[in-house]
Amino acid sequence: MRSAMNNASSPAEENIPLIQVLGLTHAYDNGTGPIVVLREVNLGIQRGEMVAIMGPSGSGKSTLLSILGLLMIPTAGSYTVLGRDVLKFDRSSQASFRRTYVGFVFQRCNLIDTCSVYENLEFPLIYAGVKRSERPARIQDALARVNMSHRLHHRANQLSGGEQQRVAISRALVNNPLIVLADEPTGQLDRMHGELVMDHFEQIMSDGDKAVLIVTHDAQVASRCTRVCLLEDGALKSH
Ligand SMILES: Nc1ncnc2c1ncn2[C@@H]1O[C@H](COP(=O)(O)OP(=O)(O)OP(=O)(O)O)[C@@H](O)[C@H]1O
Ligand SMILES: [Mg+2]
Repeated sequence: MRSAMNNASSPAEENIPLIQVLGLTHAYDNGTGPIVVLREVNLGIQRGEMVAIMGPSGSGKSTLLSILGLLMIPTAGSYTVLGRDVLKFDRSSQASFRRTYVGFVFQRCNLIDTCSVYENLEFPLIYAGVKRSERPARIQDALARVNMSHRLHHRANQLSGGEQQRVAISRALVNNPLIVLADEPTGQLDRMHGELVMDHFEQIMSDGDKAVLIVTHDAQVASRCTRVCLLEDGALKSH
């Protein structure tokens, strides 16, 4: 799997979408019958694309992102990454795929409250096997890009909402993931820091190998993406 998905694609892989979902359907079931929130979604994303996903509250955006991050398994449909059917991976390969290739910015940040900013960013590096001696520079660099270097030793619960969001973005990107899934990453940020985050996404995209999906309600954020997809009541309207 690792060789199939590393950053240098073979000629045969060049035209394979990085991400391809077909007929993706998802229903939650809380015991009162299925609640269908994604309906036959088809979406292909190439390396080098930065795609905005927009749509009303409750339309299924976070659910779609969770499935793409393998945090949730869909009710029906297929999901391939560079042609590999990741839904068929066993649980441990799915966990390894997530750790190695996916950077996820959660809508609610999900930082570990009682750990420092440094420790929050160090965890993904530890899981990825990055040497202890290399970690400080990686962490400093990721934080500098979102203007958060000055809060390295604060605990996450000592940060403002926007600061937590910026740390969550750094944490998602510190591992240099192939696929970045960001759920309203600028929702709590002022314009200047929102632009800074978008600059950061553009910079990591500049090698043309990766893809970034950004769920957003902000038209300015969407205007900086290469493409906009609209999700309405679980159906993808434009793609
Ligand atoms: N665990 C769950 N069980 C049952 N229903 C759920 C669950 N999670 C989400 N839903 C429902 O699924 C629908 C889609 O939720 P989702 O979080 O994907 O929406 P969203 O587009 O991200 O909305 P927002 O813009 O408000 O974040 C909502 O109507 C929500 O109530
Ligand atoms: Mg959401």
